[in-house]
Amino acid sequence: MTVPLVVYPFVLVAVGSVALLSVRKSSNRASRAPPEVYLSDDDIFNNPRTAYEDALKKHGSVISVRRKNRLEYIVDQSLTAEVLTNDATFGFEKGTLAMLNLHPLLALPRSFMQDMDTIVQEHIISRLNNSVGRISPVFEEAAKALATPLQKGPKPTAVDVDTAVHHMMSKAMLLLILGEDFTSDRDIQNTERVAVAVASLTGIFQNTSWWSRAFPTAWRFFIWMKVMAHDIPRYFLSSIGWKILRDLSTVDGLYDTKDSDPVIKRFARRYVDTRTGKISFWDRVWVLSIVLGLIFASVHQTAVVIVWVIFELAKRPEFAEGFRAETVYETDTDGKLRLSHASTKNAERLDSFIREVMRTKGDTLSTVRQTTVDAPLGGYIVPKGSFVIPFATLSHLSKEYHGEDAEDFVGERWVGTGRPAIMLSPGYWPFGLGRWACPGRALAVAEIKLFVMSLLAEADLSLESGEYTVVDPLTVTSVAPVGTLLLHHRK
Ligand code: HEM
Repeated sequence: MTVPLVVYPFVLVAVGSVALLSVRKSSNRASRAPPEVYLSDDDIFNNPRTAYEDALKKHGSVISVRRKNRLEYIVDQSLTAEVLTNDATFGFEKGTLAMLNLHPLLALPRSFMQDMDTIVQEHIISRLNNSVGRISPVFEEAAKALATPLQKGPKPTAVDVDTAVHHMMSKAMLLLILGEDFTSDRDIQNTERVAVAVASLTGIFQNTSWWSRAFPTAWRFFIWMKVMAHDIPRYFLSSIGWKILRDLSTVDGLYDTKDSDPVIKRFARRYVDTRTGKISFWDRVWVLSIVLGLIFASVHQTAVVIVWVIFELAKRPEFAEGFRAETVYETDTDGKLRLSHASTKNAERLDSFIREVMRTKGDTLSTVRQTTVDAPLGGYIVPKGSFVIPFATLSHLSKEYHGEDAEDFVGERWVGTGRPAIMLSPGYWPFGLGRWACPGRALAVAEIKLFVMSLLAEADLSLESGEYTVVDPLTVTSVAPVGTLLLHHRK
């Protein structure tokens, strides 16, 4: 059958219209915001994994969800690397400071985050041998103190590991960053308070209180005022803060750094004014703020992850002997056997266990970015100034990345694979990913190992009733699980 010539123009018009419509449709889609999905508070706070994962499966790789009066854009594993590593479009500094309600810092001529990064990279991680050596006695003492009640008799003893670990971490970081003169009981107690107070700025304790969930904006304002106008001035500036300012006035152009110097003195030297040979008052205040930020970044989160690792180990006592067997000690200058950087490097089985705890503990909305422009993402446009958050379990428990048993806890999964707990990838990013991934992670993992090795040297572990409770499934990275740890005499 031949088609009459007169039909061709109509066919052309029809095909053209269909093509035009589909181009329009896809450009409409590209200029549209991602679908907004409603999730109830109950789903978000009590059942976040199922709620968000189901919504992403149903509506596509990027959705927006309103949480605590804020619209957040959530992405699945297919867009995670793009969001976390493309800093020009998805800004880390903007996202993190905005999440902390600290946007004013962005207006300063210096970068707060860049300086925090420098102090950690250049003065802690590049000298990890020295850093770990200085703080290892703090971990050994803390473990010994926890196990002291065992000396009274054969019975197991219940211990408050969360409080002990916060105290230990505050002491270790004060010693490393500020030096011995800043480790009095009062300094340690004030530091613990400040670390928890600053952590609360991110809203981590907001999920567990009815008031804060019902009135999120008012609560955010209240908590911000409380931390800035009360907690930091009262617990930090009035005690440690003034001492730091005074101490920094002794650092001048002639100051010769020594190996035993705390991190702050080495870092502060970069601010010595070449004309006056001194550090100006405002630069001293700047150094003080960086140190406060660093204490926040290092104390609370590491303490929480230590509790996770200890509880997971207490549930699986069969791992303890293997960890003891790989623990090596070094003799220090006083002839004492000490845990050192070499001990932590040698602990390969423990490293694998830590990586597995960090992968499986159920991080959900942990790492955030903020769009610096109207950002194309997954076929949509995410408006400038929006929070974009990858959903962590979709990467960490993905079969595509970790195989069929991705959901199972396999303590020795990483032994011999050349993938230590600090090595990040799109399938494993508990320390973030990309240019701004946590610069302190090598210290954090070394600290976790120091405590586990120290505690196993003193006791066997178990959990009362064999389990712990996850109190806030939405914020497992910053809110420790709750349980009662039992210490037993070593068999
Ligand atoms: C287990 C403990 C820790 C965890 C889970 C953790 C996790 C993280 C995460 C997720 C980020 C954001 C990364 C991103 O958005 O891509 C971060 C940033 C940061 N962390 Fe950690 N961290 C820990 C311990 C530490 C320690 C011990 C230090 C310091 C010695 C530290 C210093 C920092 C700093 C300064 C930043 C800001 C980013 C930068 O300056 O590059 N963290 N951390």
